[in-house]
Amino acid sequence: MNHFQYRRGILCAEDVDLRHIAADVGTPFYCYSTATLERHYRVFAEPLPKDALVAFSVKANGNIAVLKTLAKLGAGADVVSGGELVKALAAGIPADKIVFSGVGKTKAEMRAALGSGIYQFNVESEPELETLSAVATAMNLRAPITIRVNPDVDAKTHAKITTGTAETKFGIPWEHAHAAYALAARLPGIAIVGIDVHIGSQITELQPFEDAFARVVTLAQSLRAEGHAITRIDLGGGLGVPYICDNAPPPDPAAYGAIVAKVAKDAGAQIICEPGRLIAANAGILVSEVLYVKRGQNRNFAILDAGMNDLIRPAMYDAHHEIVCVTEPPPDAPHEVYDVVGPVCETADRFAEARSLPRLNSGDLVAIMSAGAYGAVMASAYNARPPAPEVLVKGDRFSVVRPRMSYEGFLEQDRVPAWLED
Ligand code: LLP
Repeated sequence: MNHFQYRRGILCAEDVDLRHIAADVGTPFYCYSTATLERHYRVFAEPLPKDALVAFSVKANGNIAVLKTLAKLGAGADVVSGGELVKALAAGIPADKIVFSGVGKTKAEMRAALGSGIYQFNVESEPELETLSAVATAMNLRAPITIRVNPDVDAKTHAKITTGTAETKFGIPWEHAHAAYALAARLPGIAIVGIDVHIGSQITELQPFEDAFARVVTLAQSLRAEGHAITRIDLGGGLGVPYICDNAPPPDPAAYGAIVAKVAKDAGAQIICEPGRLIAANAGILVSEVLYVKRGQNRNFAILDAGMNDLIRPAMYDAHHEIVCVTEPPPDAPHEVYDVVGPVCETADRFAEARSLPRLNSGDLVAIMSAGAYGAVMASAYNARPPAPEVLVKGDRFSVVRPRMSYEGFLEQDRVPAWLED
């Protein structure tokens, strides 16, 4: 459930008429709903064991206002870079609720994370363990770690977001786990605290989670028998969301919570979860204006002022996002079939192919739904297009939480070397 609903024929974000934001901020813009973020966080966190840590995956939405909204509910953070660490801390997420994931942490990032006292590093390779140990030892510290194991379970999701099979770069191969833990136990700058797994994203069936988690519990028990202190199990993120309203919905977070609770009981460990999409995707939309409707030879093109630089998911993953009109069409509105495209000079700059929509005209506002996760964070300035600004709504208030970059901002980014100066 989300808080983007028609009221008196106009799409609103909570109590705010999206036309008002468009008039104030210009289009395109991202719009997030506080009530939806809060609701999704609670729906996810409530069925989990009381001592579980819900570490919001900052890669899904790194806006500091969004992070702060979640921090106020008690969320921790899953970060994958020094930049995300800085943002999470700036949003008021306590260091002891931050976990640091990712296959390529640099020494500088390790130092920053150790210096701020994060909860744990999720280590993804033996050389990373050795480097982290050396960095921590030089700081007279021991780095709390889990090792991310790759359970070789197919999450049955898009190939570009599958992470738990042996063919991906993620985690330590299952067969190497015992040796990796033995290495970790020998390293002076390392303190083993648990085990970690993450099998992919936008997973719409529970079975792959159950399979992976069962394997991890068994492994945790055998590692304990070898004397390792496995007191935490990090189950990663990955629970999918409905992108198509009338499709079979992905599993209910309560059913996922029940599986997680069983893992906690079977393993006798603290549970850490790293949800991203589930919290943020349906809490955000991208609002755009129809610039032109172009009648092609075989197709109609609805050309928006938002482009693939703002939202790359359709181009990158063939992702489906619902597109709705901000002014509610009457039930008997005539429909037409459109390719909904952006202004970027790429054929891939297409939000929807052959989509039947109420007849569109220049100047209409449309909302691209489910864009709150992996939307603004993946935006670029390709074609020298300032990425869409971000707006957060709470009740009848809204606030620009990331302004649109000016063209002067572009000019300030580049430097001209001396030999080109006249
Ligand atoms: N933890 C780890 C270690 C991850 O790699 C990810 C996502 C998450 C947690 C959060 O997963 P979520 O709950 O959001 O599924 N850009 C792609 C998604 C990439 C996901 C990468 N890892 C997309 O737009 O679909």
